[in-house]
Amino acid sequence: MNRFVKWESPSNIALVKYWGKHNVQLPKNPSISFTLSISKSITSVELIPKANKKVEFYFDNILNVEFGLRIEKYLSNISGELPFLNDYSFVVKSTNTFPHSAGIASSASAFSALAMCLVDLDCELNKNEFSLKKASNLARLGSGSACRSVYGGISIWGKTQDIENSANEYAIPLNNEIHSVFQTYHDDIIIIDSDKKSVSSSAGHKLMDTNPYSTEKYNQSYINTKLLYTALKDGNISEFIRIVELEALSLHSMMMVSNPSFILIKPETINIINKLREFRNDTNIPICFTLDAGPNVHILYPDENKKEVQKFIMSDINKFRVIKDCVGKGPLKL
Ligand code: PMV
Repeated sequence: MNRFVKWESPSNIALVKYWGKHNVQLPKNPSISFTLSISKSITSVELIPKANKKVEFYFDNILNVEFGLRIEKYLSNISGELPFLNDYSFVVKSTNTFPHSAGIASSASAFSALAMCLVDLDCELNKNEFSLKKASNLARLGSGSACRSVYGGISIWGKTQDIENSANEYAIPLNNEIHSVFQTYHDDIIIIDSDKKSVSSSAGHKLMDTNPYSTEKYNQSYINTKLLYTALKDGNISEFIRIVELEALSLHSMMMVSNPSFILIKPETINIINKLREFRNDTNIPICFTLDAGPNVHILYPDENKKEVQKFIMSDINKFRVIKDCVGKGPLKL
């Protein structure tokens, strides 16, 4: 029988953003994220004897040649790390728990699930011990932010002297030091637009190379990493809110002042941010927002405020689809 493994792995939402890279997918500044729970990819990899076609990729059980070629290129890039990849062909099947059109970046969950499968197969074939660092490193080479998804809870990717053992090649988990309030945080994702991104993240990263404000942005994100790490340890929610919103808006400011400039937020994004801030001022309930590379608003809040916040979302932001996610436990072997 052919060897077969199957893993599920979640998406993640960055609190300090990775935007700008160099060399082989190395970040220009450290980033910190919550690994999610509900939004995930489920991926299986079957090793078959060498065939004409290196990779056959099925998404939702439908053959997807374009993504199959991307995986083929990825496998060839990482074959130095996993030499067994040269000896087989592969049938890869993947599906997402979130709707295809939800506008959620799926590359983090997709590449972390695939990397978990490949490291698992390597362990089976070569009797190695499973290494999450190795999976994180390989996930990074598929999509930078994917390296943070191999751990549950909160991860950091990118070397900074302020966090011991942090590295540019892989992410590490921060969980032991983190205050309990952040371990059960919610992320309700307001889906404003489900279209494919008008600018890919690789094009966006590249535009940072010529952005006149990029050095200042990288410096700011180093400082924000340090401050957020302290806030996460102390359970300091107001400092968390200040940094997370600043990071989201800095990310989108970078897009607006790059050459060529692009704007991914929509009028509805701004409306929701204004409503959210008004609600926070009126009630003192500590909710905040972050944004990914798109118009959708991620509403972040502590578990103890779940009732009031969900009521606010249902009454004030009720014309959009909402994915109710939260901090999760990371990948799982199926
Ligand atoms: O992993 P990529 O290359 O898709 O880049 C992700 C960039 C952001 O999602 C905007 C920020 C981040 O740190 O996840």
